[in-house]
Amino acid sequence: MSLIYRPAQASDLETAEALVVSSINDLTERHGFGQMATASLPNFQLFSLRDDPDGLWVAEDDGNILGFAWSWVCGDVWFLAQLFVDPAQQGRGIGNELLKLTLEHSRKLGATHRALITFTFNRVSQGLYIRHGLFPKMPIYFFGVPREQLIDGLPEPPLRVIAIDDTAAHMKRLAEIDTYAVGVAREKHHRYLLNDPTTKGVMLMAGSESVGYAYIGSNGHVGPLAVTPDDLLGDAFTTALNLAANGSSEKISAFLPGNCDSALSVAVRRGMRITFPMLLMASPGYGDWKQYLPRNPGFM
Ligand SMILES: CC(C)(COP(=O)(O)OP(=O)(O)OC[C@H]1O[C@@H](n2cnc3c(N)ncnc32)[C@H](O)[C@@H]1OP(=O)(O)O)[C@@H](O)C(=O)NCCC(=O)NCCS
Repeated sequence: MSLIYRPAQASDLETAEALVVSSINDLTERHGFGQMATASLPNFQLFSLRDDPDGLWVAEDDGNILGFAWSWVCGDVWFLAQLFVDPAQQGRGIGNELLKLTLEHSRKLGATHRALITFTFNRVSQGLYIRHGLFPKMPIYFFGVPREQLIDGLPEPPLRVIAIDDTAAHMKRLAEIDTYAVGVAREKHHRYLLNDPTTKGVMLMAGSESVGYAYIGSNGHVGPLAVTPDDLLGDAFTTALNLAANGSSEKISAFLPGNCDSALSVAVRRGMRITFPMLLMASPGYGDWKQYLPRNPGFM
């Protein structure tokens, strides 16, 4: 049989997830970071597939999935959530072909901005993305800390919080905040998070004004988080850390972009440690996030 590229189907997603986990762990182990990934249910992949099947592709040979690419589009932003090739099949052009298919997805929908988050230590992915017009913008650090250590000396939350609901008023405000922070409204993705029983979403309030939002996972992970006034990012992150510390997860974590000085300073003051260095790559003119903390490299 020969290698084919075809649209992904729902029944491919668990196999694709296993491939992604083995490809990440192969990369992180080769670079001395140990194993980074564990398999989870491909819920967001399935959501994206149902929303827009053009964004998910597999490379297959004789019934075996050798590579997987997944992109989503919101407004004029295209985001490459995953591009992974089986470690034994890398370097023979599969990643390049899958990337071309997902970039075609962006062209069809007229998305003018393109972005992704990759591993700072992967020379191959960065070279491949530059070849396709996606350039290094800024580091994004994955920070972590044991909850017991974070609680020690954590200041009171500077901002008040109220639960996000799916009323028109909250959806409108979330769209305004996202448009300001990342250049595009992401209503469908907020609805996805609000339906996720393992994630809690809050509006961040300064007095009676909603100045941002934050999501906190039951696994202790903070993000996405966004604020409208840049100077409230540190307060917003401190507030979200309080919520995470009040949960039961042993570990607290967040992805912090290099432009988000106040959140980075809070993280270091609170004893958080950089575990994985990642990198935002984007088409020219996009990706100066100063008031946005992504959830992870797939959700953005
Ligand atoms: C990154 C990845 C998807 C690429 O897929 P692949 O099938 O191995 O890549 P291809 O063979 O299609 O293309 C490799 C290209 O990378 C570029 N490249 C490789 N090494 C490079 C280097 N040191 N410097 C610059 N560019 C480099 C070249 O353009 C090369 O193409 P060429 O050999 O024709 O010149 C795959 O290697 C992988 O899964 N890696 C681990 C996981 C990962 O980091 N995924 C990206 C997450 S966002």
